[in-house]
Amino acid sequence: LTVALLFGGRSSEHSISCATAGGVLAAIDRDRYTVIPVGITRDGAFVLEADDPAKFALTASALPEVLDNGTRVLWPDRAGSRELTVADADGRRSLGTIDLVFPILHGPFGEDGTVQGLLELVDVPFVGSGVLASALGMDKHFTKTVLAHSGLPVAPWRTITADDWAEAPGMAYAAIEELGLPAFVKPARAGSSVGVSRVASREQLAEAMTVALAEDDKVLIEAGLVGRELEVAVLQGRPGQPTHASVAGEVVVTGREFYDFAAKYLDAAGIDLVCPADLAPADLADMQAMAVRAFEAIDASGLARVDFFLTATGWVINEINTMPGFTPISMFPSCWLASGYTYPQLIDELIEVALA
Ligand code: DAL
Ligand code: MG
Repeated sequence: LTVALLFGGRSSEHSISCATAGGVLAAIDRDRYTVIPVGITRDGAFVLEADDPAKFALTASALPEVLDNGTRVLWPDRAGSRELTVADADGRRSLGTIDLVFPILHGPFGEDGTVQGLLELVDVPFVGSGVLASALGMDKHFTKTVLAHSGLPVAPWRTITADDWAEAPGMAYAAIEELGLPAFVKPARAGSSVGVSRVASREQLAEAMTVALAEDDKVLIEAGLVGRELEVAVLQGRPGQPTHASVAGEVVVTGREFYDFAAKYLDAAGIDLVCPADLAPADLADMQAMAVRAFEAIDASGLARVDFFLTATGWVINEINTMPGFTPISMFPSCWLASGYTYPQLIDELIEVALA
């Protein structure tokens, strides 16, 4: 099978996507799959990339990146064609036909239904959720709206647009009064904690709004939750098989205010990822059932990671990620490794489900 691995992209999680691609390039079973690595630059050019896992390793000193190398990968020009073409200074040549695309993209213009729409348009199978679920999962306001409507527990929140903040900043101040401090201020459509701030006093709100509005023109203010931070990975079943959830992983934050971007990818000091988490079997079963319900509530496909807090009053779903981080240190693969899969088997499973 020939797989086009699509990574990089226009979002602030560009480098995380590259690191994820590095992990997949290193692990994918080369006896079964031919891989065509297609990078998307930060300005949205599709380029033919090197099949070199080491190029995309994530280190604290160098975040990997797709640069414009002058090539252009051209998508099939009609539904039903599976042929990829590359154009460069020497002209055009075929890259052959692909069986599916693995769009390992995070954030807007990749995880939000835009790329999924392009792939649906040309009728190429791909790993993961389609347009609707991707768009819902990307937007924290609509994720919470749909989950709450499905009877799933979410933290209380207020949504403030850039216009609201410019014209009626009192709305945001009223939100922190109602929700209480500390609160979290988050861009509606971002990931990896980019643009997220913890607000412990009224005076910190304006700066937090500015940081979040730099990522998106819609921002959520959420009540800070006190409890354990636990995550679970979900895989769609093969035909006739149920969607299932992994064991849970826990983010143990000791030396930091929260699990921010730096803690996720640059400097894990003060953070421990514990997998499997120490949970009573009944608690794990509840969590897994809610994760599968959340997956179904947004109409997800393929895979997701559902993030929870376990508070004194029970489970709260924080968010759902339809293309979770897949770097070698990420929670999604760790949870499946602890559930009995190997990393290459996990890739096989995602591809088999996408083709089924
Ligand atoms: N948004 C990051 C990649 C995650 O959910 O893992
Ligand atoms: Mg999260």
